[in-house]
Amino acid sequence: MSRITSLLTRFDPETGKVEGVQGVSRRLADLRGAFADPVAFEEALHKDNPIVYTVSSVTPGDGKGDLHYGVGVLFPGTVGQEYYLTKGHLHSWREAAEIYVGLHGEGRMLLEDEATKESTVVELLPNSTVYVPGHTMHRTINVGPVPLLYIGIYPADAGHDYREIAKRNFRTVIVEKEGKPVVMDREEYMRSLPQMKTGR
Ligand SMILES: [Fe+2]
Repeated sequence: MSRITSLLTRFDPETGKVEGVQGVSRRLADLRGAFADPVAFEEALHKDNPIVYTVSSVTPGDGKGDLHYGVGVLFPGTVGQEYYLTKGHLHSWREAAEIYVGLHGEGRMLLEDEATKESTVVELLPNSTVYVPGHTMHRTINVGPVPLLYIGIYPADAGHDYREIAKRNFRTVIVEKEGKPVVMDREEYMRSLPQMKTGR
């Protein structure tokens, strides 16, 4: 046990900041290509480049069987009708699963099987856990009015692979319609955008 650097971690329940950890911030500009509506994305970015989410990763050990975890905060907002989201990733070690624990706010996990492209949306809420199986693309989405706070726990050697999602993105989007989250096929949502209708 002595090789583990720290057994106890404290984090701020408001900001998700972890003592002694330099978190990673993703701003809107870092999410180019992630949202389905490119016109709405450029319009939003023209106004402001806010932090969309932060992740503070805790890496107590890198030995065989060790675990890492990250405290994530995803802020509320939309681009077009699409709720703020994380880039999403696969694990470099594809078999690696992950457990998400919801702490605050109202979120969804978008899961997509890499091979079959089958899409599943699971609620990420306080007092709930979501099991992300291996070989599954996963993205977190904030569908509520307050910051979404959660923890993801994964094998130390899982690794993060963003390339596949940067190439093809998820097949499914979650959009706000009359104040409520609605799950839609990405292609269908893109066909419904005003610029697609007017040829803008
Ligand atoms: Fe993950």
